[in-house]
Amino acid sequence: MARKIAILGGTGAEGSGLAFRLAKAGEHILIGSREAGRAQETARILRERIGGAAQIEGMDNPSAAATCDIAILTGPFSGAAALLKQLKSVWKEGTIVIDTTVPLAATVGGAATRVLGVWQGSAAEQTRELLPAGVSLAAAFQNLGAETLSGDEPVDCDVLVCGDDEKAKQVASELVGKIPGARALNGGKLENARIVESLTALLIGLNMRYKVHSAGIRFTGLPVR
Ligand SMILES: NC(=O)c1ccc[n+]([C@@H]2O[C@H](COP(=O)([O-])OP(=O)(O)OC[C@H]3O[C@@H](n4cnc5c(N)ncnc54)[C@H](OP(=O)(O)O)[C@@H]3O)[C@@H](O)[C@H]2O)c1
Repeated sequence: MARKIAILGGTGAEGSGLAFRLAKAGEHILIGSREAGRAQETARILRERIGGAAQIEGMDNPSAAATCDIAILTGPFSGAAALLKQLKSVWKEGTIVIDTTVPLAATVGGAATRVLGVWQGSAAEQTRELLPAGVSLAAAFQNLGAETLSGDEPVDCDVLVCGDDEKAKQVASELVGKIPGARALNGGKLENARIVESLTALLIGLNMRYKVHSAGIRFTGLPVR
């Protein structure tokens, strides 16, 4: 049976963008939301946009988390801990979670160009604390903007993949490779997610100063395509 990828918070800009790109690449997507109806509507819009045999369903977050093989977290940092607590007993053993969350100060009323201090070091390390032991984690996609993902063109971005679980990093890197123009780079341990997350605040500032919506990152001098 084909694997299922849940995108929790997938009704938002980042989640919808990832759902669009991954469904277009042939993946079976489950959009998750706090309201099943909202997820179904997002799924319908994306199916219509992609056409053909696009496999995208909508459901509430717990149903998507319980059914999937891979889950991508695309909700705001302000709701992350509560959502993960709600899902703690729902995950199947062996599920791989990929965290895109950035703890932007904007999620609690501050500036989008700053990140909050997180006790655990990063949003991803907080997520690790709130997942059961049998669920593995990688952090990725934090620097790949929603506006860039929502288009049809190749994205022209590197995606740093951080984690302490090699299988989860491998799966996250494989998904990055399904997005035309994106290159996955091994970002090292999960603790490096704090650096990657803070780069997003910098990118938002660049977007504002240069009046664009699509600033991204590219690393040079590496022996990887
Ligand atoms: N936007 C970007 O360009 C971008 C780029 C890189 C990384 N990210 C990260 O990706 C994540 C999503 O970004 P976004 O711009 O798509 O965010 P968003 O639109 O604010 O939120 C995404 C979805 O999360 C759900 N949500 C909202 N508040 C929630 C709460 N308190 N608890 C649980 N779910 C909640 C909502 O879905 P329902 O109401 O349907 O549940 C919403 O549609 C963020 O952590 C962000 O830092 C975003």
